[in-house]
Order: sequence, then C-alpha cells, then structure tokens
Amino acid sequence: MSDAAAGGLRFPDGFLFGCATAAHQVEGGNVNDWSRWEERPGRIKDGSSARVAVDHLSRWRSDLEELAARGQNAHRFSVEWSRVEPREGVFDRSALAHYAEVVRTCRELGMEPLVTLHHFTFPLWLADQGGASAPSAPLRFARFAAACAEAFGAGVRWWVTINEPVVLATVGYLRGEWPPGDTSLLRTFAALRGLARMHAAGALALRSVAATHRREALVSVAHHVRGLRPADPASPLDRLVAAGPDYMFNRWWLRACRSGRLGPPIGLGERVPGLAGSLDWVGLNYYCDDVLHFDPTRPGELFARQSPKPGFPLSTFGWAIDPEGLRDALHLVGRESGGLPVMVTENGVADVADELRPGYIVGHLAAVHRAMRDGVDVRGYMHWTAWDNFEWAEGYGQRFGLYAVEPGTLRRCPKPSAALYEQICRSRTVPSEPHTQG
Ligand code: FCB
Repeated sequence: MSDAAAGGLRFPDGFLFGCATAAHQVEGGNVNDWSRWEERPGRIKDGSSARVAVDHLSRWRSDLEELAARGQNAHRFSVEWSRVEPREGVFDRSALAHYAEVVRTCRELGMEPLVTLHHFTFPLWLADQGGASAPSAPLRFARFAAACAEAFGAGVRWWVTINEPVVLATVGYLRGEWPPGDTSLLRTFAALRGLARMHAAGALALRSVAATHRREALVSVAHHVRGLRPADPASPLDRLVAAGPDYMFNRWWLRACRSGRLGPPIGLGERVPGLAGSLDWVGLNYYCDDVLHFDPTRPGELFARQSPKPGFPLSTFGWAIDPEGLRDALHLVGRESGGLPVMVTENGVADVADELRPGYIVGHLAAVHRAMRDGVDVRGYMHWTAWDNFEWAEGYGQRFGLYAVEPGTLRRCPKPSAALYEQICRSRTVPSEPHTQG
C-alpha cells in the first residue's frame, strides 16, 4: 500500500469509514435486562438510565442522514433483540420492519451497514432463564439471527453476531458491574462457553439463510483487545501474572473460533458445532493498553495488579492513549485468526472537552495505516461513537461522541472532531503530522 498524497496517509478505495453505535445506548425506551438493572439503586454511577438515551429510535433517519452527509460510507449499529422478540417465540414484525428500513436507508445514503445482533442486552425472558448460560440461548439466538437475516434481505453483508463476548462475561459475571451482577469465576467460564455456543449457532443460521437465498454473509464477532503486558518485561513474576489474563482476554476466543473447541481453562476442549471457521473476518474493538504487576497482597486477583500503560496521556475514563497499541492489536487478531480480514469495529476516547479526540483519531488511524503497510488486511474503521450516549454503568459521564447531545432538546451538536473526521472520511486521507488542536 502506498502512502500517496502529499501531507497525508491515504487509505485504499473501498475502505470503510463510519461510526459504531449500540441499540441500548442510543435508542431509548428499551425493556431488557439492562433497563431492569438501571432501576436498581447504585448500579449506574450518575443514577441515570437509558430510558430516553439519545432518542435515536425516533430520530434515526436524520441521524443517519447527518453521518452520510459527513462523508461516512459505512455505519455499525445493533438490533435490539428485546424489541424484535419481546416474548419468547413471539416476533414483532414491526420491529423487524424498522431495522430493515434502517438497513435500506443506510444503503440509500451510501453507507454499508454493519449489523450487530447482540450488543450486551438480553430480552428479559432469556435473562430470566440464565442469559448467556441458559441452555436454550444458542437455539434462541439462532432463531433470532435467522429472523433478522430473512427480514434484512440482501441489504446486509457484514454481520457481527455478538459484541465483546469476553468483556460481557468478565464485567457481568466476574466483576459484577453489569447484569447479571455475578462474581464467580466458574460462572464466568460458563457464560463464555454459552456465548461461544450462541455465536456458533448464530453464524450457522446467518450462513444458512444466505445460502438459501444465494447471498453473501460475512460473519464475525466484535472482539475487544486490550494490550495486557508485564509492567516490567524483565520480571518473571510480572510476566507470569500478565500471561494468563492476556491469553484469556485477548486470545482464547479467537483460538476457539479457529479450532472449534472450547480450550482450557474455560472448557475441556469440547467441540462446538459450527464454531470452527465461524469467522469470515474479525471485528476488533480497541481502546487502550494496560500493564500487570505481580502483587503478593492480591491472591483474589491471582496476584496481579492492573494499571494503565505508563507514560501516556489518560482519557477521562483513565485509559492510556497510545496509538501503537492499536497497531499491535491489529497484528494480534490478524495472527490469532490465521490472517483473516480485520475491521476496526470500535475505537474512540472518553473525552468530555473534545481536547484529546482529534489527536486520538489521527494517531489511531495512522496506526491502522501502519498495520496495513505491515501486511494486516484491514477493511475499515468504525469510530466509537457518533453521539455522546448512555455509557453502561458510567451513565452519561463518559463521553465518546463526535456529537454532544444537548440536555432536554437532545439536539446533536458537532464537536471539532466531527469536522476532522469528516475531512478524513471525504479524502480517505489522514494528516501525517500529529494533530494538535486549535
Ligand atoms: C465497548 C462497548 C461499547 C462502549 C465502548 C466505550 O466495550 O462495546 O458499547 O461502551 O466500550
């Protein structure tokens, strides 16, 4: 790939530039395991909820028009399962028609839709059966995936079955900060096995509908990678405490999808039908890197203390900003997947003042460009996210949007980084100089 244009790093024709969103964080009015969680005191840091969110459900058309007008040629969004199947086995045709209309509109506006089927939320009826660990979850998810594939027709090529399965299992079942609020390693492993079975069953369903209609379905997950390295690479103990989390968090899932087996310690090597070769591409969600220190005072955390990679600025979330981490993560998923095409399905920064974001975008896209030059087959970049939104347990405190959303009116107000991202999307070129504000 050439660097082309004077003063910039040019991306190839057909490279996808867009934003990533998730239904529950933007739509408003959802009834699912998260809406129930939000009602429990203390669960959401600022006491807020996604009851209104940014009211994307009624504003979706003008929202999409705005993003397309800003030169974006792709859009990642998720389908809210609890809307489509509000009761077990009962599908709401109008909800399916709504998302089909969103898909059609993306295409009319010149944006390739990337559709996520599961972005952290479960319908209540499934949450009450055990969510990710419910024995019925894979079959139910496959039926839901098939319903979406039928309803959206040829409009969708790029599918994400599940967003960040390993994050969902870790935060919901080990750290207890998201539903179901569990804190058990064994149940975390059970959830991961369940999510792998859901993903495999969903992938089979998507491919079977595509084959029936002679269409293409490109299936993936959105896999979160967080660089987890020893604080002191020369320390055998730091190396030891970093190796386990790096394997479990960053690599286990990709290896399972390659081999078709649930490797230890999460499984016993059992084979899952449809899991081997279930990825046509890899969606990578990347935000930051951490380091791990050996700490004898923390037996409960397997003697590991995790902290942001030192020497880099921190986002308002306290995440270290080092674009090289994205390049490393792209290499990691390229290698672990056996060289599959990769798409950055999320990357962004919590930054209330929009001071860090311009540099973050330029730096991280330059890192994507470097990874492509190194030989990683990267097809696109979805910025997280379009609008400041409901940021799960953080409520509205952490702001990742290119647009602020005015309280009360919910008017979308472009930040300076929206103009910068527009310029990048239109020119498919990233300024080669480090970006400084103002
Ligand atoms: C990712 C999630 C996304 C958003 C960002 C900040 O882990 O997939 O929904 O919360 O983090």
